Amino acid sequence: MVKYLITGGAGFIGSNYVRNLLKNNQDVTVVNLDKLTYAGNLDNLKDLEGDNRYKFIKGDIGDAALVDGLVRDADIVINFAAESHVDRSIGRPDDFITTDVFGTFVLLEAARKHGVKKFVQISTDEVYGSTEGASFVETDPLMPSSPYSASKAGADRLAYSYFVTYDVPVIITRCSNNYGPFQYPEKLIPLFVTNAMDDKQLPIYGDGLNVRDWIHVVDHNDAVDFLIENGADGEVYNIGGGNERTNLEITSIILEKLGKPESLKKFVEDRMGHDRRYSVNCHKINMLGWQPQYEFKQAMRETIQWYEDNRWWWERIKSGEYLEYYRSHYKE
Ligand code: NAD
Ligand code: TYD
Repeated sequence: MVKYLITGGAGFIGSNYVRNLLKNNQDVTVVNLDKLTYAGNLDNLKDLEGDNRYKFIKGDIGDAALVDGLVRDADIVINFAAESHVDRSIGRPDDFITTDVFGTFVLLEAARKHGVKKFVQISTDEVYGSTEGASFVETDPLMPSSPYSASKAGADRLAYSYFVTYDVPVIITRCSNNYGPFQYPEKLIPLFVTNAMDDKQLPIYGDGLNVRDWIHVVDHNDAVDFLIENGADGEVYNIGGGNERTNLEITSIILEKLGKPESLKKFVEDRMGHDRRYSVNCHKINMLGWQPQYEFKQAMRETIQWYEDNRWWWERIKSGEYLEYYRSHYKE
C-alpha cells in the first residue's frame, strides 16, 4: 500500500490527479489536504465520496502542526497547492507569497523531518519568464515576471535546496498551460467557453497574440506519475504538450466548436507585465520515455463539450464569489 499526501487536491489539476490515481491503482491511499480557497471545490471530487481509500482534510499547507502529522504518515507527497492565477497575483500578491513560498517551506520541513520516499514540487514553465526565441531547457535561468511566477520560482528553488542540503528526494516539474475538465472559470479556456455559451463577451488581453503551450491535464498528471517512477532525485523536468497557440487561435477553436459569432471577441487592456510566449523544451523527459498522448484539436473539443455537459459545475461557481471578483475587475 502506497500512501499519498496530495495538497491542493480540490483544485483543477490536483482533483484530476486524485481521481486518476485511485482509478488506476488499487493499492494506494490518498489524503487530500486542501484549504478550500475560492479555487478549491469539493464538487470536483464528488464521485469519490464513499471510497475508503480516500480522505479529505480541510487545512492550510502553512499549518506546521497539521502538516507534520500528515507528512509523517505519507510515503509520497505531491504539492499541487498554490495560489495559481496570474491576474489575482497582480492585484494582491500577499497570498501567493504565503501559500506558494511559505506553504511549500512548511511541507519541505516536514518531509525533511519524517523522511518521505518522494516529494514532488509542482512548479510551472512560467518560472522561466517569456521567450520569443528558443524554448527553455531546465538549466536556463529563471526570470519570472509576475508575483505568481516569482513565488513559484521561490518554491521551486527552495525544494531544490532541500535536496542538496538535506537529501530530501525532491522532483520538480515545470509544466506548461493545462486544459481539461474542472478548471476554474477564471482561466482563459474555461472562462471563454462558459462566457461564449452564455453569449457573453470574451475579453482578449492586448493583441491576442501571446502564445501558450497547451497540455491536457491528464497528460500532465501522467508525466508526474512517470517521473515518480523514472525521474532522478534533485532534478527538474519540463513537461509540455507541444501545442503552442496564440490566444486568438484558442478563441477561434472555442467559437467554432460552440457555433458562436466572432463578434463575441472583445479586445481589452493588456495584462500588466504580460508574458508574450511560454515555451519549454521537453527533450529531458522525452529521453526517459515519456510523451503526451492527447491530440490537441480532439481533446479541446472534448473539453469544450465537458463544459457544455456540466453547466451545474461552473454555474454554481460563476454565480457566487467569482462573480464579485469578476465584476470588480476590468473585464465587464
Ligand atoms: P487551482 O487554483 O485550480 O487549485 C489550487 C488548489 O490549492 C485549490 O484547491 C486551493 O483550495 C488549494 N490551496 C490554495 N492555497 C492553499 C493552502 N494554503 N493550503 C492548502 N490548499 C491550498 O490550481 P491548478 O491550476 O490546479 O494548479 C495546481 C498546481 O499546478 C499549482 O501549483 C500551479 O502553480 C501548478 N501549475 C498549473 C498550471 C495550469 O495550467 N493550471 C500549469 C503548470 C503548473
Ligand atoms: P491564463 O489562463 O490566465 O494562464 P497564464 O496567464 O498563467 O498563462 O491566461 C492564458 C493566456 O490568456 C494569457 O496570455 C492571458 C490570456 N487571457 C486573456 O486574453 N483574457 C482573459 O480573460 C484571461 C483570463 C487570459
